[in-house]
Amino acid sequence: MTRPRVFVTRLLAGPVMARLHEVYDLTQRSGESAPDRRTLLEGIRTADAVICTLTERIDEQMLQEAPRLKVVANYAVGYNNIDLDAARRRGIVVTNTPDVLTDATADLTWALLCAVARRVPEGHALVQGGGWTGWTPTELLGSDISGQTLGIVGMGRIGRGVAERARGFRMRVLYTGGSSAPVPADPLWRQTALVDLLRGSDFVSLHVPLTAATHHLIGRHELSLMRTTAYLINTSRGPVVDEAALVEALQGDRLAGAALDVYENEPTVHDGLRSCSKVVTLPHLGSATLHTRIRMGLVCLANIDAVLQGNPAPNRVV
Ligand code: GLV
Ligand code: GLV
Repeated sequence: MTRPRVFVTRLLAGPVMARLHEVYDLTQRSGESAPDRRTLLEGIRTADAVICTLTERIDEQMLQEAPRLKVVANYAVGYNNIDLDAARRRGIVVTNTPDVLTDATADLTWALLCAVARRVPEGHALVQGGGWTGWTPTELLGSDISGQTLGIVGMGRIGRGVAERARGFRMRVLYTGGSSAPVPADPLWRQTALVDLLRGSDFVSLHVPLTAATHHLIGRHELSLMRTTAYLINTSRGPVVDEAALVEALQGDRLAGAALDVYENEPTVHDGLRSCSKVVTLPHLGSATLHTRIRMGLVCLANIDAVLQGNPAPNRVV
């Protein structure tokens, strides 16, 4: 019996590749770099299942040229890179990797929040560069975190993970939205409208998926509502923020700083966000821990296994 063919767009963690090899006929790329469109089309054309990552745009034309394709397993929780309507029309299942990356992404959000508030990269550069001349009363003064107000835009799994971690900092939490799961009651947590969250928070952290409705959710007007002493943290998707407007706000001292893991046009980063001491930048590392990445791969596998065996996919989005 011929084995189903799986196209994996990137080399994934060892245990995931080993399991894939065991069960499937694998079309696998040798490297970890992003495939070009032609390579993607070639791989998808003969595949029964695809494991792809967030940088690969799976559009209508691609799905059209994939007559055997039954499932696209996105190696990410966000799935804005896939044309869901086109998949739906063709009866192709799309799955994602929720839950397994919630802790890693919430942890990294806090790393960014602390880094920007306490000027960690500047201090690190000073010591590493040999320029530190000793303690002074006013060197690299940052902002308080404990006891301040944290705004969570999008109280889904990751937003909630970030809010739960804020308890250790005795922070008030304002939040918008929510997922299907009810948000637990907490005397320090309050649901508000976005405008009130922006006006009332010392830190605003974004945790919404990228959709037509959240594209540029944080634009010039929204940034103008934020306190001039406040920080913006984004570990969701770059286009949720109007990057040009953010640069304007930072340059005009209308915002204390920003800490970003994601960008509007990755891997291009707006010039105004580089070489700016008020900005901390990471290269999209939200889920980047070894164990999380293995778990994400195993979730993709479980979804592919289910669909190819005619069972419901555990993490179906379409
Ligand atoms: C990463 O950005 C993800 O959506 O998993
Ligand atoms: C994603 O997992 C979210 O719901 O925040």
